[in-house]
Amino acid sequence: MTVQLSWLGKDAAITMASIPGAGCLNTHGHPVTVDGGNWIIEGDNLPVLQALRPTYQNRVRLIYIDPPYNTGQQLIYNDRHSGRADWLNMMMPRLILAKEMLRDDGAIFISISDDERAALEWVCDEVFGETNALPSCVRVTKRTSNKGKHFSPSHDVVLGYAKDLRQLSEFKDPLTQNSPEYRRLFRYSDAKGAYNRVALYMPSLDTRPNQRYWITCPDGSRVIPPEGKIFRWTEPTFLDKQGLGYVEFIQTNRSPLWDDAGGPAKWNVYTKLYLEERLEKGLRPTTVLSDNRFTNASGSKELIKMGIRFPFSKPRALIQYLAAMMGVASGDVVMDFFAGSGTTAHAMMSLNPLIEWILVQNSEPIPRRYLVGNPQVETIADLCRYRVNLACEGLQDPLRDPIIWREAIYG
Ligand SMILES: C[S@@+](CC[C@H](N)C(=O)[O-])C[C@H]1O[C@@H](n2cnc3c(N)ncnc32)[C@H](O)[C@@H]1O
Repeated sequence: MTVQLSWLGKDAAITMASIPGAGCLNTHGHPVTVDGGNWIIEGDNLPVLQALRPTYQNRVRLIYIDPPYNTGQQLIYNDRHSGRADWLNMMMPRLILAKEMLRDDGAIFISISDDERAALEWVCDEVFGETNALPSCVRVTKRTSNKGKHFSPSHDVVLGYAKDLRQLSEFKDPLTQNSPEYRRLFRYSDAKGAYNRVALYMPSLDTRPNQRYWITCPDGSRVIPPEGKIFRWTEPTFLDKQGLGYVEFIQTNRSPLWDDAGGPAKWNVYTKLYLEERLEKGLRPTTVLSDNRFTNASGSKELIKMGIRFPFSKPRALIQYLAAMMGVASGDVVMDFFAGSGTTAHAMMSLNPLIEWILVQNSEPIPRRYLVGNPQVETIADLCRYRVNLACEGLQDPLRDPIIWREAIYG
């Protein structure tokens, strides 16, 4: 039986998901239908999601959200909820609506810190179903810090849930496989191309039947794993792959294998891992997001270059990576309903201008102390539109149609 978290106000929060708001989406007072294309919608995301439900139900491929972490601080946006229950009451109906928006092969990723991570996981398990949970990812947020009494927090977490895990396609790491460091690992080559050697015998492998056998080396001597140890492949697989040219014998005086006399062998046996074959299959992304491009500093730096100050924006590279690894493609819809400075739109435009995106950001005024270092805007929604405009200009390609986005206000 699934264990559920209870808190004060939970039932009412669940009901909120199904009560439509009284307002509508409009542009300069005229009602608009948000159906297709790129949009920045200003307003509280709960009634906005309700307003979008009829058109976007089961249509969204990826939802990325970065909600206030409930740190109890007044940041450039308000991050003070009166307590955990209050924060969960805010999140619950929005998550229920998020699930409704997702396509059957869609997924949601949520950035969160330790403040609410545990509670959020319980709630997401309930809303999306435990069986649809993806492994959580740790993002390295900073490299040097000495804040904190016991540990200096230097990561946050990206939780992921599929609408239906069985229908979510395999992820492929778009960064590593294109990186020169990764390609350099394939330092040998033959007629079939670049390859890396992987030892057929690994001491850490658990014993399994039929995986300890004699292999004949080029000089006629034979090798076998030490007593109680095994090769990675069964004998038929080995013979099959050897016939296909995937096996290499290397002479060495440090072989871990035994020879016929029970002493150290003169040969070690390797299998060839070809770069092209590995790329074709795709690399699985690891659950540690440690690339320098994913740190907080990288997000802030990019905004500062654009003349914007929005502490705690997420780096564009992070959201682009998540979408690319899922294979989000032309015509797919991506949603971010805690849009902040609009990083998700920027990330999608740079990944593929034909991905459709919808951002929702409320009209929170920017506190006075954050006005310095920012364009002359009054609310975070203004700042979001400003950034997305700049991003469009920066990405404009004279050979392509200009990227168009529209704005709507919920009221
Ligand atoms: C952590 S920030 C998101 C930052 C964003 N990922 C970026 O890279 O800039 C959370 C944002 O959600 C907005 N927000 C909070 N509650 C909201 C609500 N109910 N409706 C719409 N936006 C909301 C806040 O104003 C804030 O801009």
